[in-house]
Amino acid sequence: MSGVKARIAAELVAGRGRSLRYTDVDDETLLRQHSPLMSPLVWDLAHVGNYEEQWVLRRAGGLAALRPDIDAMYDAFAHPRAERPALPLLPPAEARRYIAGVRDRTLDVLDHMDLSDPHPLRADGYVFGLVLQHEQQHAETMLATLQLSRLPGLVRDGALPSGRARGHDQVLVPAGPCEIGTSASAWAYDNERPAHQVDLPAFWIDRFPVTNEAYEEFVEHGGYDDPRWWTVDGWRWRCARRVAAPLFWIKDGGRWWRLRFGRHEPVPPREPVQHVSWYEADAYARWAGRRLPTEAEWEKACAFDPRTGQALRYPWGDGDPGPRQANLGHRASRPAPAGAFPAGASPCGAEQMIGDVWEWTASWFAPYPGFTGFPYREYSEVFFGRTHRVLRGGSWATHPAAVRATFRNWDLPVRRQIFAGFRCARDVTRDEL
Ligand SMILES: [Fe+2]
Repeated sequence: MSGVKARIAAELVAGRGRSLRYTDVDDETLLRQHSPLMSPLVWDLAHVGNYEEQWVLRRAGGLAALRPDIDAMYDAFAHPRAERPALPLLPPAEARRYIAGVRDRTLDVLDHMDLSDPHPLRADGYVFGLVLQHEQQHAETMLATLQLSRLPGLVRDGALPSGRARGHDQVLVPAGPCEIGTSASAWAYDNERPAHQVDLPAFWIDRFPVTNEAYEEFVEHGGYDDPRWWTVDGWRWRCARRVAAPLFWIKDGGRWWRLRFGRHEPVPPREPVQHVSWYEADAYARWAGRRLPTEAEWEKACAFDPRTGQALRYPWGDGDPGPRQANLGHRASRPAPAGAFPAGASPCGAEQMIGDVWEWTASWFAPYPGFTGFPYREYSEVFFGRTHRVLRGGSWATHPAAVRATFRNWDLPVRRQIFAGFRCARDVTRDEL
């Protein structure tokens, strides 16, 4: 097996390990719908196998369908999440057998595939990149489900580097053109393509994501009670849902606690805030006299290298993420404190842009100039418009294979179950020019 194929095989194995770890719970926990926002875990499990069957075995490998009878049941577009518990889902043991059978054949297809074949699904093993990123994304979704379940003891924790205090600290990104998106990254999604130039005025961006300590000031200073800080839609949402703090925060004995995978613990001040909606992030930024960065600003601060005029794959360069650079891949079940990864700083000095928390941006999810939908319309195209906001950078739960500087995630502005926080930006004032 070639080096590339061995790497693909290793990534497939790693992704499956996560799917099985997060579903190594009793059948009742797997079958139950823990939140109307999420699927039962056993749906996610069979869905990743069915997706792999459809794309690797049938379309790229030309094999006959193993289970065409279940395609519709595991089609995310045919059945919204709220409907999924009522479907005659494969029971957990059968789901595990099914996905293992698919995986055996996937490894055979990989073994025999010519990765220099120009077919767009086979070139550079694109279809394997598609399914292994998909499975890792569902692993993160499963973690969000486990967090929403409020059940203790299901998710492991681990150690992270400690942070370093810097106070409020912003970095300057000078004016000028930079490349956004990619045309060269083999496994990039359609929505990251094609690479194109943008020319941005100078701006300031926070060195770190907004911390719990900073966010608590907004909470304690009545940020949730003052419509001046909120958009019209945001204020309506905050009032209708009676939102008064991030999801999973609880006030008890005069201090804030949080519920994290079934455990109550004091809110750690130096960690980036997570489980806030776009509306909350946007309101905080206005209260603080700043704003959310656009996604082009975010990407420039993350990856633009003024020494070469080129964009890097990651803030620190083109090398894969290491443990000193970013908190990714569920090393621990939490973001790392601000300042934990000086070795992961971008050329302009911004830190923790990759990993820790997804970061809401000011931008709606929209196609880049020259966008072509691939390999199917429902991957990105149907979400474009003024409905979904873009998130960048991945979270502590995101696998390194499923994030890079150009990666775009998107969600509705009300969503809080995802591992999302934000950082602020502001324009450069006249005096600072
Ligand atoms: Fe999916």
